[in-house]
Amino acid sequence: MKINGGIPLKGTVKTQGAKNAALPVIAVCLLLRNGTLTLDNVPDLYDINTMLELIKDLGVEIEINRDEKNSQVIFKVPGEIKWEVSETLARKMRGSSLLLGPLLASCGKVSLPLPGGCSIGARPIDLHLKGLKQMGADIEIQNGVVHAKINGRLRGRRIYLDFPSVGATENLMMAASLAQGETIIENIAREPEIDNLAAVLRSVGVTVELEGAGGVRIQGVEKVSSGCERVIPDRIEACTYILAGVMTGGHIKVEDVVPSHIDAILAKLEESGANFKVKKDTVEIFPNKKRLHPVTIKTLPYPGFPTDAQPQMAATLALAQGVSTIEESVFQARFLYAQELNRMGADIKIARDVAIIRGVEKLQGANVKATDLRAGAALIMAGLAAEGETIVEDMVHVWRGYEAVDKKLKSLGAQVELL
Ligand code: EPZ
Repeated sequence: MKINGGIPLKGTVKTQGAKNAALPVIAVCLLLRNGTLTLDNVPDLYDINTMLELIKDLGVEIEINRDEKNSQVIFKVPGEIKWEVSETLARKMRGSSLLLGPLLASCGKVSLPLPGGCSIGARPIDLHLKGLKQMGADIEIQNGVVHAKINGRLRGRRIYLDFPSVGATENLMMAASLAQGETIIENIAREPEIDNLAAVLRSVGVTVELEGAGGVRIQGVEKVSSGCERVIPDRIEACTYILAGVMTGGHIKVEDVVPSHIDAILAKLEESGANFKVKKDTVEIFPNKKRLHPVTIKTLPYPGFPTDAQPQMAATLALAQGVSTIEESVFQARFLYAQELNRMGADIKIARDVAIIRGVEKLQGANVKATDLRAGAALIMAGLAAEGETIVEDMVHVWRGYEAVDKKLKSLGAQVELL
């Protein structure tokens, strides 16, 4: 994407359905037999379409109804589905690990290629497998493929997660839905995606009680029914546009936002002196009178500062007045974008898992490469704020998580062009 920078963004943009909420709730359809699951507000993204391909390949019929008001996907599940996941499709996306729990629970077995790592660090699924083993599954890994099976049904258990892993929480909640008896999972992830998954599981007849102290209690059922639910707004996409408005000194409104989902970002923006107003489901950004103050950030599981907004926040702080630090505590290597931002005149030093960001007056346009989804977003934001022309290569990473980003930016007055 080619960007002619230095133009303050103006106008209104509406968020898409959340990528990281849609992926697990799509997998819920695999728990059904001879039933339909209807999901609204499903975003049109590479990763979502890969997931839909995976589901279709397993034998589920899919009907997509997309118009400017809604994008609905109806999953028509037959009496039997396949339990072997296609290697080519599974390797395209990490989210494929979310097929483990529902396929094992409903077919009694599953073969799934181990998801590959990616540029933000190793992406093991040991916590997913440990929980499924505790529920009675036999699991072997041969030639990079996970083979899991269960004689009879999974058994409800009390499970403690060593880390509040989002994916492990989601896989185990789906597996517990068809297990015998009650499952209690402690120390679960509390990202809003988990509440969305609980709502979809309830819609198909599963009793799910999220407990305040970071646990969930699920009563397994013999068979789930048809159901329907709506995917929540994408909190990370919302943060990306909010920060782009701040970086370009623009005046924009981001609609279809759940403010409580982005408390950590809004708190840091307030601390840095950004000029914005929060209403029921919108955030309005106004031009800043002066440069942002520096802030100190540590990424944490929800409700802490989200690691998925870390690169975008680093780009924003690259223009602050002073030295900010961001400690990345969730992933091992999520700073690859820093040297690309430095090619645009930023001054970011990485000391192990901390980025030290010395603010500069201006960024200059340059040719840069997206290394992963959120890094790509950060580089686009920097290009919008920089003087001159920026070309962001490897946009394929950005299309994985940002629907129609060129059209949305053009509607905000940005001069962008796909090459
Ligand atoms: C989800 O990944 C998101 N992806 C990620 O978003 C997000 O960054 C992450 O949660 C944290 O919020 C989807 O929802 C599809 P984790 P997930 O399991 O489930 C370690 C984006 O940009 N871990 O909470 O893989 C792991 O290595 C993507 O949209 C284990 O060690 O995240 C990591 O360091 C990037 N063993 C940490 O936990 C396990 O079994 C967090 O992982 C599982 C995870």
